[in-house]
Amino acid sequence: VKFKKLTIENFMAIGNAEIELSDRGLVLIEGVNNFESSADSNGAGKSTIADALSWVLFGETARGEDGDNVVNESEGKNCRVMVVVEDDGMTYEITRHRKHKAGKNALWVDQDSGTSKTALTKGTDKLTQAEVNKIIGCSVEVFNGAVYAGQEKMPDLPGMTDKNLKVLIEEASGATLLETAFVEANKRFQTAKNDANTASANLSSAATRLADAKQRVTDAETNRNEYEAQRAIKINGLATNGRALKKEIEDYTVTIQGLGDAVAIRKEIADVEMEIDGVNKEIAEERRLFNEAAALGKVSERHDISLIRLNRQLLAQKKTLIELDHQVGCPCSTCDRPFSAEDIDPAKKLAADGIATTEAEIETLQKTLDDANKAHTSAIDVVEAFQATMTDVSAASAKRASLQSQLDAIRTAEADLTNKKTRFASIVQQIKDARDAENPFVKEIAKQEVVVKTSEATLADCESAAKDATLAQAIAESVAKVFSPTGVRAFLLDEVTPFLNDQTAKYLGTLSDGHVSATWTTLIKNAKGELREKFSIEVENANGGKTFKSISGGEKRKVRVACALALQDLVARRATKPIELFIGDEIDDALDRAGQERLMNILEEKARERGSVFIISHADLKDWIRTTITVKRDGPCSTIEEKVS
Ligand SMILES: Nc1ncnc2c1ncn2[C@@H]1O[C@H](COP(=O)(O)OP(=O)(O)OP(=O)(O)O)[C@@H](O)[C@H]1O
Ligand SMILES: [Mg+2]
Repeated sequence: VKFKKLTIENFMAIGNAEIELSDRGLVLIEGVNNFESSADSNGAGKSTIADALSWVLFGETARGEDGDNVVNESEGKNCRVMVVVEDDGMTYEITRHRKHKAGKNALWVDQDSGTSKTALTKGTDKLTQAEVNKIIGCSVEVFNGAVYAGQEKMPDLPGMTDKNLKVLIEEASGATLLETAFVEANKRFQTAKNDANTASANLSSAATRLADAKQRVTDAETNRNEYEAQRAIKINGLATNGRALKKEIEDYTVTIQGLGDAVAIRKEIADVEMEIDGVNKEIAEERRLFNEAAALGKVSERHDISLIRLNRQLLAQKKTLIELDHQVGCPCSTCDRPFSAEDIDPAKKLAADGIATTEAEIETLQKTLDDANKAHTSAIDVVEAFQATMTDVSAASAKRASLQSQLDAIRTAEADLTNKKTRFASIVQQIKDARDAENPFVKEIAKQEVVVKTSEATLADCESAAKDATLAQAIAESVAKVFSPTGVRAFLLDEVTPFLNDQTAKYLGTLSDGHVSATWTTLIKNAKGELREKFSIEVENANGGKTFKSISGGEKRKVRVACALALQDLVARRATKPIELFIGDEIDDALDRAGQERLMNILEEKARERGSVFIISHADLKDWIRTTITVKRDGPCSTIEEKVS
């Protein structure tokens, strides 16, 4: 960090001033007060310059002023201090206002990349202040302990508590950053650890998936082989059946041939049937004659029945006549008078006539019946005579039946043969089907082999991912270790202590001729050899007091200055945000002329090595310092003049 130009407007005693802060070498700030007759150089506004820097950066002055008190009394407003800061190739403008017409009481920060300006000002001064602290990488404590030795705030490092000194040393050395880095590194380590765990879980599940897929291939291969074995058994069985059936068919064909020629048999049957057909006409004639005879028989029967009826009728008529004779002398059923022979005669005559008629009818019918019987008998004779002339077809029929049964046997056998042939064809088809049938496990094997391939690829990926993750974890762990309190921080503090001691010894050696020594401690080893933090500065005078308290006021001043300068060296050479600026406000106070000379030699060397050292003093130091800033107070507002001798 480089503090470049400081611009002061209506800040405390100073009305308007611009001071270059960087690479100035050793600069003396002296004062002339013409405004107040009582003073010579007191109250000129020297300390105000340093306070302006402190105020613009942190909002308070080394003397503890803040609020409206910093606004120049006579102006009463428009107080503004601006400092240009350079860091990492970036320029920042930090501006603090008080009662300012444009800026009110606000803190502004602008970033200037050289090509563009960005306002970094936040919603509140507090947030903007955090931004400022980030840019300069320096807290007000470090600023007051190592950069600005205030007139009334001489940094008292040897008198500090362990805790305050720790904060100061850690920040001055850049170790504070490591804490943040440690938190971050730890976070990253945890993430890397989780990632590594995930990667390892992924790896083992990928391995399981691969093993499963391989097992499925093996299973499918077993199934495929089993399927092929079953297929062979099936085809074998079918082939055996097929061969047997083929033999049967061959044998059967021979057998059928032995059964005769179906065509010839059919022809024979046709011939026999033709013969039988001729006889059929005779049979029809026989039937016709037979029917005629039967019809005549029926006629005789009818006459016979009629004759029987007439004979019964005759018997009844004769009985009636006899009963009429018996009625003579019997009373009439209506008049009760007994019948006489004369009464009965008409009825007797009627009955006798009836009998005569019936007897005549019987005689006629008997004649008719006799004729019918004769006709019937002669018809039967005709039938029998015809039958005697008929052709005998029983032999032909028997032959036909025999031929038919022979043909039926052939037909049945042929049907059997066809059936066998169908069965044989079916077996052939079954064999073909069995041969052609796709082994379903072949597809399954191919499918699972693809899964194996992808699983292998995934496993390889997982392996390399797990390897990477493990490595990343190891690295992250190492990094966390590096940033841990026992890591680089301990190392840094281990380095810091000798450095501080060397620098302090150098300064103190020059200032006190080596009588007084101050020893910084940061880490001490306990009995177990473990590092323990202890921040202190042990002071002693070889010729006198053995504690800081016991040494003289001038000696104390020298120790304070030496420690502050040593701490400034630390801030100036730290890796991040080094600050190459030291402002000492009357740090030469209480030093004799020899002491002043020694101090100036030190500061001269420091300024040469470390950019800018501003010394505010009443003493005549021009022998040692060539650049002078004179603060003049001729009126209510002080002005400055710069001079190089
Ligand atoms: N707000 C203000 N407006 C104007 N002047 C102020 C204001 N606050 C303080 N002063 C005066 O500014 C003057 C300069 O003070 P400063 O501390 O800078 O003097 P100095 O040059 O460091 O003197 P010394 O040598 O005594 O330390 C003092 O007289 C002080 O009273
Ligand atoms: Mg002063």
